[in-house]
Amino acid sequence: MHITVRIPATSANLGPGFDSLGLALDLWNETIFTLAIEYSVQVHGEGRERISSGENNLIIRSAQRLAELVGKRLPPFHVDCVNHIPLSSGLGSSAAAKLTGLLGANALLGKPLSKKEILDLATELEGHPDNVAPALLGGLVASMVQDGKVLAHKIHLEDNHDSPIHITVVLPDFHLSTQQARAALPEHVTLKDAVHNISRAVLVTEAFRTGNLELLGKAMTDTLHQPYRLWLIPGGREAMDAAKEAGASAAAISGAGPSIIAFSAKREEAISEAMARVFEEAGHSARIFHLKMSHHGAEAQIR
Ligand code: HSE
Repeated sequence: MHITVRIPATSANLGPGFDSLGLALDLWNETIFTLAIEYSVQVHGEGRERISSGENNLIIRSAQRLAELVGKRLPPFHVDCVNHIPLSSGLGSSAAAKLTGLLGANALLGKPLSKKEILDLATELEGHPDNVAPALLGGLVASMVQDGKVLAHKIHLEDNHDSPIHITVVLPDFHLSTQQARAALPEHVTLKDAVHNISRAVLVTEAFRTGNLELLGKAMTDTLHQPYRLWLIPGGREAMDAAKEAGASAAAISGAGPSIIAFSAKREEAISEAMARVFEEAGHSARIFHLKMSHHGAEAQIR
């Protein structure tokens, strides 16, 4: 028996939607689970030099957590991972690993948990819902957490905007952990800053829903996390400005960074090149990803 789990990359926050909004992207990790005599991990692609292959591997630990929660013995397995989501990049690689472990274990154990329960558990492991929810559901997802339970709502996009939004992600060649990026945040914010974000987060969802890039450009600003994080990303602020000068409608830190995400009506090499250039001027080479939104989320298939 093989279980194949596919999880998309995600971009969380989308400017003002800190810990609330996230978008699934068409860039996937695919993992095959096979029963074995002991736990083992093989990684191809992104993160192969950094991902632990022992029992502290995130996929194995998340799988074991699910088994513990449902009170079942987890049979040992081998996982073969083909990874396209770069690690510590702001594209949801840790959410993808956790969901891979949870969905793999759930399939191995005869599906004791519903998708909703998997989402609650993944959010507990991750600490916030804005990567795991879109990774599981696909598309643009708005989430809230109440008493440890997640309410995640996939925004129904109007399909009368026929030119899908083009997404450019530029990733500088240094790692920034989410932990480090969260440690930079203040404990308290002013009412003015809270209002700035609430008003814009609503308009960002509306801009995506209707494909209104002009509105996205006006609404995608933030006062709650980006001002505190940009100093951790040399060239980050300049990359956001360069994207807009080169024709992008909007730009933001993707998740907790260090990648910068830009949105435009169509693929424009000028946008990605301008962003990469400013990172290079700040001393870091950068990788460019041209992406689309993924309308569907995680899949687990048993064969
Ligand atoms: N909302 C989270 C943060 C996303 O910004 O810290 C981390 O991927």
